[in-house]
Amino acid sequence: MQMNNYIELINKKLDEFIKIEYPQEIFKSMKYTVTLPGKRLRPIMCLETCKMLGGEIENAIPTACAVEMLHAQTLIHDDLPCMDNDDYRRGKLTNHKVFGEAMAVLAGDALLTYAPQIITKYSENLSSSVMIRVLNEYFQFAGARGVIAGQVVDINSEGKFLDKDNKIINKDEAEKVLEYLHIHKTSDLFQLAMRTGAIIAGADDDKLSAVTEFAKTFGLAFQIADDILDEISTFEQMGKTMGKDKEEGKLTYVSLYGLEESKCKLTCLLSKCHDIMDKQNMSSDIFNEIIENILQRAGSNK
Ligand code: IPE
Ligand code: IPE
Ligand code: MG
Ligand code: MG
Ligand code: MG
Repeated sequence: MQMNNYIELINKKLDEFIKIEYPQEIFKSMKYTVTLPGKRLRPIMCLETCKMLGGEIENAIPTACAVEMLHAQTLIHDDLPCMDNDDYRRGKLTNHKVFGEAMAVLAGDALLTYAPQIITKYSENLSSSVMIRVLNEYFQFAGARGVIAGQVVDINSEGKFLDKDNKIINKDEAEKVLEYLHIHKTSDLFQLAMRTGAIIAGADDDKLSAVTEFAKTFGLAFQIADDILDEISTFEQMGKTMGKDKEEGKLTYVSLYGLEESKCKLTCLLSKCHDIMDKQNMSSDIFNEIIENILQRAGSNK
């Protein structure tokens, strides 16, 4: 399947999976951010992992959509005034700008519990033991040991490692903290996407750990690219306000290592992703395309 076919399929299913019920405002608010045009990388990577490891894409669709709903939840809360305070997401006003803060908090909460229900309700072909494993992955990566851990450390690090001239203080600690927060706030959802795709395909332990290592490395690279793009890209390209990381004193790869070193690290991590695949004789044009696209956008292959 080509990238466009994946995106079409995922968009169609996301639309089907969220129907507007009473009380309408909460379902409208949930559906608003979920159906805005995101890149759909996490669900694509879930489905492609399943396919690459010999599974049926059909069996992974509810899980892939649940991961995208969880991702939308993290975006809604990430944009709130008490977090990153952003007005635009995916080229449109953020959830709280359209529905108000109270509804945006509730829409995030609602998506967090709605998503696993999509898995249990629509995954007719999964055995109960596979279903329990998939749900366990969801709760692990969505919770206080997963993406929330990353967001907590992200918020707590704001301004902590930079002096008033934006120079780094305590670099050794900053390096450790930064890797931790990037792995959790970003790699964790890629790990969730790919591990569940692999579990649904019935992957053995070797393949599952290779997929985990790939997702962890890829997620770190993806967040480094996001840090770079916050510095060098435009609203038109990204659909969100740029330059906010610097403004808010965020601890990012760019603030810690500068633009050029961040680009080197990005290239190096993405080449490691290829190595992990090659070592396990796994290959996928879709993953190659995704990696190439990030390299081009974040400008590190110059
Ligand atoms: C945004 O993720 C949040 C980060 C982890 C940087 P994406 O860049 O995948 O956002 P969408 O889904 O395409 O909007
Ligand atoms: C996003 O990190 C991580 C999550 C939403 C969990 P950022 O705060 O850098 O993402 P953007 O730049 O707002 O998309
Ligand atoms: Mg953030
Ligand atoms: Mg943000
Ligand atoms: Mg960012």
